[in-house]
Amino acid sequence: MNRQVTMIQLLELICIRHMRRIPLIAGNWKMYKTTPEAKEFIVALSDATASTQRRIFLAAPFTAIEGAVEAAKGTKISIGGQNMHDQLEGAYTGEISARMLKANGASFVILGHSERRQYFGETNALIHRKLLLALKEELTPILCIGELAHERESGDYLKILNLQLKECLQSLNAAQVSQVIIAYEPVWAIGTGKTATPEIAQAIHRFIRNWIEESHGIDCAEQVCLIYGGSVKPDGIASLMQQTDIDGVLVGGASLEVKSFAQIVNY
Ligand code: PGA
Repeated sequence: MNRQVTMIQLLELICIRHMRRIPLIAGNWKMYKTTPEAKEFIVALSDATASTQRRIFLAAPFTAIEGAVEAAKGTKISIGGQNMHDQLEGAYTGEISARMLKANGASFVILGHSERRQYFGETNALIHRKLLLALKEELTPILCIGELAHERESGDYLKILNLQLKECLQSLNAAQVSQVIIAYEPVWAIGTGKTATPEIAQAIHRFIRNWIEESHGIDCAEQVCLIYGGSVKPDGIASLMQQTDIDGVLVGGASLEVKSFAQIVNY
């Protein structure tokens, strides 16, 4: 009897923990959309997703953040940035700080996207500093990790992911890690049309959750939101979201059109 009660309690606990992780559909607009385009998109998206219970994030270009925030007022859509500097202010021509993002109404920021790592030389150490600053400034970080095609082919991908997690999350405590959204974005799947199969994506999300459980404990691992990114399209979304450890998606190309992004939100 006692044992039965314990099992029921355990199941309830698992359900409560799972419910805490509300599905998240995040769009990354990259270097697309002017302010008027962003505003028009948000009005249409908000209409097309009026009944959703899912969280919707849109990472806008810096110049469109303020207008996007204005257009998103009173909707379920949160606006964020795609990058930030690792210092709060200073002589860094062309850069944007966490404080500026925050002042313009951003609530989250993408850090360590593979395009930043590949084209702008961002390292795990730099991303770690940005992560600490984003948390301090109360911006929710979306930390991107993922292996290159040759790293997957050589079988070294878990080593790479382990290193990215270790170096980016070093020194963060459990309370901090549970606020980080981690996006697994295999670089070979970004913008290529080659989505990871739901099984591959689930295996890596499980790996990440286990990694967090070992480093920061089970509560932290159950709370942390893990999302998949890389050629997510409306037709593949349902099978990805069915996976136990996938809490959401980060969408590039398919977030540029209201129709496809709304289909992903409403899957
Ligand atoms: P994609 O981009 O959906 O176009 O592959 C994903 C991303 O870069 O976050």
